[in-house]
Amino acid sequence: MNPFEELESNVRYYCRRWPAVFSSAHGATLVDENGVEYLDFFAGAGALSYGHNNPVLVEVAIQHLREGRLLHSLDTFTVEKRAFLESMQRRILEPRQLDMVIQTVGPTGATAVEAALQLAQRITGHRAVVGFEGGYHGMTYRAASISASMAGRETSAHLKDFVALPYVANVTEADLELLAQTLRTSVNGQKIGALIIEPTQGEGGARPFDPAYLRAIREQCSELGILVIADEVQAGVGRTGPFFSFEGSSLDPDIICLSKSISGLGLPMAINLVRRSLDTWAPGEFSGTFRGNNLAFATSAAMIETYWTDSELEKGTEQRGLIVRDSLHQMADTYGEGSFVVRGNGLLCGLDVGNTELADDIARNAFDQHLIVETCGAGDTTVKLLTPLIIDEDQLSEGLDRLSDAVAHASSR
Ligand SMILES: Cc1ncc(COP(=O)(O)O)c(C=O)c1O
Repeated sequence: MNPFEELESNVRYYCRRWPAVFSSAHGATLVDENGVEYLDFFAGAGALSYGHNNPVLVEVAIQHLREGRLLHSLDTFTVEKRAFLESMQRRILEPRQLDMVIQTVGPTGATAVEAALQLAQRITGHRAVVGFEGGYHGMTYRAASISASMAGRETSAHLKDFVALPYVANVTEADLELLAQTLRTSVNGQKIGALIIEPTQGEGGARPFDPAYLRAIREQCSELGILVIADEVQAGVGRTGPFFSFEGSSLDPDIICLSKSISGLGLPMAINLVRRSLDTWAPGEFSGTFRGNNLAFATSAAMIETYWTDSELEKGTEQRGLIVRDSLHQMADTYGEGSFVVRGNGLLCGLDVGNTELADDIARNAFDQHLIVETCGAGDTTVKLLTPLIIDEDQLSEGLDRLSDAVAHASSR
């Protein structure tokens, strides 16, 4: 009997894309039960920006377990939570002049989004939400309702209080006009209370928004009393270079959702950063049993203290991002016949080959060459690269060579 086929729900997905039985992992390498090594250019859908089993963070986790420290802690005070809060304040918030409090929420990105929407509605009294085509915010009912790119959207029930604006790469007067009109409309009888944006879209195809458009969002939303929620679940925690992908853009969000790589070690953890003046929650109003993953607080604080006390990681990510995009441009020039498009920001990069089957073929060919990549974007036409940020340059160039071979192979059919 194959227990996966016999016992696991048909909804399983990534195992169909990469049909190996994995047994260990380190850095950017996954190893299957037969000892075959794979280069991981997907990094747990962005949850493993600091690599599999990052040795510094593993040591912290081992010590935590050995010493019998708390694992589950609800939202009680713990030594580890204190250290995490202090590191966030000292290394991340203060240097960026963000006067925000930290709300621990249940462990997924979708929970962070739910909490953000609920708070925005509580503050503004308005339920409707503006989002973006290609946006993805998770699979809970409300998060899925505001995810224009959600798989299976057509077949699921959705809340109707949502309107999606187009993605904006280079802002025009028409974009600003549409934004202004949309923010003033009512959706299903509801006024707009919040705008949610991934400043660089992940599932939408590695698409950074024009910083000038982000600034306009801030200005227009402030004028109308609409809250700006930055969903940094995938693009945050260094994925695009800086800690937040909106840095340098004047977006200045009211609420920032973080999850995926925030624990550093790939443990379930999510938080919202909330502008201090908007922290109007009543005690216990937003709850959840798994808000206090104390092991994740410990590894997160260690991740921040290891990688965010200087700009080395940020510079490295920007440099590696350039290497990736150069290489993708070469693939586009060689095999794309003018139709492939390279996108990205830092180490959130994509090659849009404009064809679902071709993108799928490339990902499958890559797996045959022991390289893990996934597709995303409208129609799943983009091959997405999310390497660990700490990948060494030899592995990076080896993986890009394998991808280039996969593109060559798939394009020759
Ligand atoms: C931008 C963004 N927001 C939210 C989510 C949902 O996170 P989770 O799958 O942990 O619920 C994702 C997941 O891919 C995401 O990319």
